[in-house]
Amino acid sequence: MRHYNTEFDTSVPSAWAGHYPFAYDLVRHFKPNNIVELGSYAGGSLFAMCQAVQDEYYPAFIHAIDTWQGDAHSGLYSNEVYESVLKTVSTKFQNLSIGLHRMTFDEAVKVYPDYSIDLLHIDGYHTYEAVKHDWETWLRKVSTTGIVLFHDIAVKEGDFGVYKFWDEIKNDYKHYEFYHSYGLGVIFMNAEMFWQLQQVNAFNKYHA
Ligand SMILES: C[S@@+](CC[C@H](N)C(=O)[O-])C[C@H]1O[C@@H](n2cnc3c(N)ncnc32)[C@H](O)[C@@H]1O
Repeated sequence: MRHYNTEFDTSVPSAWAGHYPFAYDLVRHFKPNNIVELGSYAGGSLFAMCQAVQDEYYPAFIHAIDTWQGDAHSGLYSNEVYESVLKTVSTKFQNLSIGLHRMTFDEAVKVYPDYSIDLLHIDGYHTYEAVKHDWETWLRKVSTTGIVLFHDIAVKEGDFGVYKFWDEIKNDYKHYEFYHSYGLGVIFMNAEMFWQLQQVNAFNKYHA
């Protein structure tokens, strides 16, 4: 996986910022056609992936799903957050196919065919029960060559429970984990894709 020297927009507040280079390079490398993000908030992780699609210049469908209202962890926030994401999408990424789907994950899941998602990012509500539910409802939508990202696998405070759920499932798949920026778990449905990166030590350069 090539390491691109890219400037990321750091004006968007995001606990995800430390993962921008990895996500950007991952998207440029594998060119996932159908990208779905569960939880986009102000667009930090979303824009890193959009930037990769734009720079790689390939035809992807990018779906950002969020109520854009917040939850008990991120706090409830105003409509300005959604407005700012919409503005960036329509000014900076206007040539990409990006859908901002303002609804719950459970409402959205019904419209995706099984095995249709090539890159799924799970970053909604972070209790054990919520992340388990998101995984169980979306797993069948992920393609046989799909990659799934889980944010916050390193957070062990309060009722954050992604780390517990991650520990339960990670060994069922070829996976990789980062601990900086609250942690990112990466699952590969296709072991070959994992080995491809592992063999060239591709992951090592993204640790903070
Ligand atoms: C941690 S933030 C996402 C952060 C974002 N990925 C970033 O890079 O900064 C979680 C978001 O998930 C949304 N959310 C949580 N549970 C949801 C659900 N069940 N359906 C839709 N949106 C949800 C919240 O509104 C919030 O904006």
